[in-house]
Amino acid sequence: MTDNFSSTERDAICKVIHARRDMRHFTGGTVAPDVLRRILAAAHAAPSVGFMQPWRFIRVTDRALRERLAGVVELERRRTAEVMGKRKSEFLRLKVEGIRDCAELIAVVMAPDDGTVFGRRTMPEAMALASCACAIENMWLVARAENLGMGWVSFFEPEAVARLLAIPAGAQAIALLCLGPVASFYEAPMLKIEGWRDRLPLEAVLGENRYPGE
Ligand SMILES: Cc1cc2nc3c(=O)[nH]c(=O)nc-3n(C[C@H](O)[C@H](O)[C@H](O)COP(=O)(O)O)c2cc1C
Repeated sequence: MTDNFSSTERDAICKVIHARRDMRHFTGGTVAPDVLRRILAAAHAAPSVGFMQPWRFIRVTDRALRERLAGVVELERRRTAEVMGKRKSEFLRLKVEGIRDCAELIAVVMAPDDGTVFGRRTMPEAMALASCACAIENMWLVARAENLGMGWVSFFEPEAVARLLAIPAGAQAIALLCLGPVASFYEAPMLKIEGWRDRLPLEAVLGENRYPGE
């Protein structure tokens, strides 16, 4: 795996990065076992602080369990709406999950702290969480390369998800990932298309020698 990448391969990875979308609309169907394996293997190949590998994955195959998870998410969506202020009705019109329609539902859980100190002395929780997020981004990109949609659902009380999925004390669910075939990918982030929020210009997030804008 020491070969340099060709310009075609470079173009392909940039294309995947920019074509990746958070998807909420799915068309059911299935994900072939070898494809699912590649997506999960990509997750497990992610970087992690101190090589901690704090991610755990739960494939939800029980329809009744999926339905209960959908209920937990819907409850949190309603609660979120209540604190949206004047954007409440606009928020309620947005689709924020595709739990019932996606081919596969995968919960990502941050494992109980194993005491890794390497790289984590000052920010232990954030660095474990960041490692899990790296795994999820790998899944997102490989799924997109497989022409499958993926959506990260974070509208839930972690305790409620923990109860449903037998997640042990000290571990925390951080994502319910909806994965599967889609009719088409959004041309741009759905929140942009719906007028909720736009992408910031790169210049607004980039500073030189000091924090941007300071
Ligand atoms: C940590 C995290 C949590 C997210 N949770 C949700 C969610 O619960 N529901 C949802 O619709 N989108 C969720 N998203 C997706 C974002 O809304 C999306 O990434 C953003 O609008 C940009 O769109 P794009 O991913 O298509 O570029 C989440 C994304 C991240 C990184």
